[in-house]
Amino acid sequence: METMGTRSARGAEEGPVAVIGAGLTGGSWAGLFAAAGLTVRIHDVDEGRLAGALERAAEAARFLAGHGLAEPEAVELGLSRLTGTADLAEAVDGVTHVQECVREDLALKREVFATAGAAAPAGALICTSSSGLSIGDIQTAAAHPERCLAAHPYNPPHLVPLVELAPGALTSPEATERASAFYSSVGKVPVTLTRDLPGYIANRLSAALWREAVDLVLRGVATVEDVDRAVSNGPGLRWAAMGPHLLYDLGGGEEGIRGHIEHLAGVKQGMLRDLATWTTFPPETADAPFSAARPAKSARTYDELVAERDDLLVEYLRARRP
Ligand SMILES: NC(=O)c1ccc[n+]([C@@H]2O[C@H](COP(=O)([O-])OP(=O)(O)OC[C@H]3O[C@@H](n4cnc5c(N)ncnc54)[C@H](O)[C@@H]3O)[C@@H](O)[C@H]2O)c1
Repeated sequence: METMGTRSARGAEEGPVAVIGAGLTGGSWAGLFAAAGLTVRIHDVDEGRLAGALERAAEAARFLAGHGLAEPEAVELGLSRLTGTADLAEAVDGVTHVQECVREDLALKREVFATAGAAAPAGALICTSSSGLSIGDIQTAAAHPERCLAAHPYNPPHLVPLVELAPGALTSPEATERASAFYSSVGKVPVTLTRDLPGYIANRLSAALWREAVDLVLRGVATVEDVDRAVSNGPGLRWAAMGPHLLYDLGGGEEGIRGHIEHLAGVKQGMLRDLATWTTFPPETADAPFSAARPAKSARTYDELVAERDDLLVEYLRARRP
């Protein structure tokens, strides 16, 4: 079984890392890198965002140490080396890795890849966190597109192990391999795609499930709360242990996936024919589930719900560690 590695000494052997863009994603990435003892420089054009990200990064790194998911010595070392700067050239000086996390805007990302690519040392990897833009469209702005790739985290990056690596047409295989080794060294579980496509793997699967989750509510089959309860108390628990391919293989008993298909082909076929297929986003009639989701839990604030999610994630991650 794959496990969340310890953010440890291996990470500390890396050169400095620059995180460009001090939003939700940048602060969390910076916390993860700092927790591995790396020298981390956060860059943003907005001083207020920079200050906020430095705080959130320190909080994230200490959270990992406090829950046994990072070595306290590495965290303190990383935090003593964590800085913020509004000067891009200063941020990328001497780095081996750049994690770009600016707003989801192609022109802006191209500008950052052009300027950061020109100022960073030869050999530095430049990775975009972009959820939906194509690395192929971004990397052509960089002086060295062969060292540019997508490294898409799952929120929050300091806690959820997955990082999806996707090369553009101009990315060298060596850069993707180096990126994979780097992310592994800071405790991530990298998954490498052969090419980039909208949503990579995880968000495509999430979108397919979410469409059906919304549709079940729109058809009056179940409430928002019951759909969520069904996922987190059933398949969600199993998916945290194993992926859908292996689970269906186990579902077929000794005969494996072939047995599963033979026994359930008719049932699956009927289900697939009945599944939602709409492609408009957001669905025109979907106001009800959107507005119902949060108020159903209104006894708890946003911060309390995030804390509950993160505490449960920690328990799962600790259970999976060797
Ligand atoms: N939020 C998520 O759940 C999530 C998950 C995975 C990936 N991502 C990706 O991460 C990236 C950032 O998303 P976010 O939610 O953190 O955005 P955000 O809006 O919270 O932060 C973006 C930051 O970029 C900064 N910025 C804008 N122009 C800049 C420039 N020229 N130089 C430096 N900084 C600049 C802004 O000041 C802001 O602080 C996006 O590409 C997004 O698709 C987000």
